[in-house]
Amino acid sequence: MIGIGNDHAGVELKKEIIRYFEENGIAYTDYGCYEGEKCDYPDAAKTVCEKVVDGTCERAILICGTGVGISISANKIHGIRAACCSDYYSAKYTRLHNDANVLCMGGRVVGAGLAVELVNVFLNTEFEGGGRHSARVAKIMALEED
Ligand code: RB5
Repeated sequence: MIGIGNDHAGVELKKEIIRYFEENGIAYTDYGCYEGEKCDYPDAAKTVCEKVVDGTCERAILICGTGVGISISANKIHGIRAACCSDYYSAKYTRLHNDANVLCMGGRVVGAGLAVELVNVFLNTEFEGGGRHSARVAKIMALEED
C-alpha cells in the first residue's frame, strides 16, 4: 500500500500521480487534502507519515508547492526518511543508498511527466543494503536518539 498526501498546492499534481497508480494497478490510499480545501503541509506530512511508521503504508508520496516544507515536516517524524526530489538520479539513489521511505515533490516545481517518472523509479528501486549503506542509514536513524 502506498500512501499519498498533499497540501493545497499539491492537489493538481496528486491527481496525475493517482492516475498513474490507477493505470498501473498500484494500491494506494489518498489521505488528502482535496480540491477547494486549504491544508497546512505539516499536517499532511504527519497524517501520511504516521501510516508509514505504523506499517499501514510501505512507502508514501507527499506533495506541497516546493516539496521542501512537507519534506522538512516528514523528516521530523521518527522512522521517516523523506527525500525531496526533482531529478531522476536522486529519486533512484535515495532508494538505493538512503532507503528513503517517503518521496516529496513540489507541485509548483515538477511537471506531471517527470513526477510520474520519479514516483515510478522510487517505488521500483530496492535499497542496495550492504555494509556501508546500511551503516550510514543506521547512523541517520541514530540521530533521532540524540
Ligand atoms: C503553500 O503556499 C506553500 O508554502 C507550500 O505548499 C510549500 O511550498 C512549502 O514548502
